[in-house]
Amino acid sequence: MANALRRRTLPLLVLVLAACAVSCVPRWRPRVIDVGLDPAVVERGRYLANHVAICITCHSERDYAYLGAPPKPGTEGRGGLTIPELFKAPRGLIIPAPNLTPAALGDWTDGEIYRAIAGGVGQNRALFPAHPFSKYRTMPTEDIEAIIAYLRTLPPMPDELPERYLKYRSLETLVNTWPQPPPKHTQRAEPGNRRYAKNLMDAAGCLWCHSPQTRLAFPIPGKEFSGGVPMLIPPPGGGLSWSTNLTPDPTGLGAWSRDDFISRFKRTTPEVVRARPIEPGGFNSLMPWEAYSGMTEEDLGVIYDTLREVKPIENASPRWTPPEE
Ligand code: HEC
Ligand code: HEC
Repeated sequence: MANALRRRTLPLLVLVLAACAVSCVPRWRPRVIDVGLDPAVVERGRYLANHVAICITCHSERDYAYLGAPPKPGTEGRGGLTIPELFKAPRGLIIPAPNLTPAALGDWTDGEIYRAIAGGVGQNRALFPAHPFSKYRTMPTEDIEAIIAYLRTLPPMPDELPERYLKYRSLETLVNTWPQPPPKHTQRAEPGNRRYAKNLMDAAGCLWCHSPQTRLAFPIPGKEFSGGVPMLIPPPGGGLSWSTNLTPDPTGLGAWSRDDFISRFKRTTPEVVRARPIEPGGFNSLMPWEAYSGMTEEDLGVIYDTLREVKPIENASPRWTPPEE
């Protein structure tokens, strides 16, 4: 895969290298903002970070002993190792999801955190798109600011995460070319509005796991939401977790009512998930069920309605294939 990546990106790299002899980390100035700590705003941020944009699912140590690998209690926001293979990145890379608690972001300005979330540029480096900045670009400005306010209220937790290691010089260079400046301001739409639905879908990221992907892990146009993407699932479960077809085809969610959909999500509360440890070699899934169970019925309903309108695609996929003996 690494070779393929090199082959495809070589012409681009030559251009990029020629264009920036010293360093090409994008240097847009962070916005000057002060998100404050209004309790209602912090609460909105808590909701989005934990249950919609699932920042906390990634930025924690994940426990593969439970359905959907929820965060290990006490590590929420402290960061954790991610598995590059999950993002179709070459093996041997180390891309930790960094610590987001004040122990790490204490000296970042609100504007710098904003630029990282929605622009893909950290304090002095471009971020690998394992952090889904391209989909957070469309998040309403107020919502991103609410998430930052919430991050400021996390208990400071030190971490011992390793440094990022991208293994190939070409990848180090390529990473600098992906970020784009976040839009200046995106207004939050009212629920019921089409743009509200679009913003919610972008933030929730269903598309990325549930769509067949190109080699660089971008959704293939025309096949959106048709599922069938295999993802490695670490032990104790093991094997491959396959995303399912969410289109309104009979092989997808065709037969699901709105109530079926909402209650399927509402069932996997933390209590339910933690009560049933995964057996060695048993079924597990990468679908972050526990995180999404905290989504409001209203938002889940908007997602259902949106998925009803996508093009039906026939694609029966397993949900899981067990580890090979
Ligand atoms: C799919 C997993 C995933 C999700 C979801 C995710 N992130 Fe990230 N995030 C990462 C990874 C991995 C990195 C590190 C990328 C790198 O080092 O190149 C990162 C980097 C960051 C950084 C830069 C930190 C630093 O020290 O450079 C911030 C800030 C951040 N994420 C905040 C968030 C917020 C807020 C959300 C939710 C809106 C979020 N992330 C959602 C995986 C994720
Ligand atoms: C990290 C990848 C990932 C993300 C993000 C994700 N899913 Fe999934 N999803 C999966 C996988 C893998 C499965 C299959 C295993 C299972 O059923 O748990 C699945 C299963 C499902 C199912 C069950 C279908 C069935 O036939 O039982 C539904 C419904 C679903 N996802 C909807 C969503 C929605 C809606 C979102 C966004 C809010 C979403 N998923 C985000 C990976 C993901």
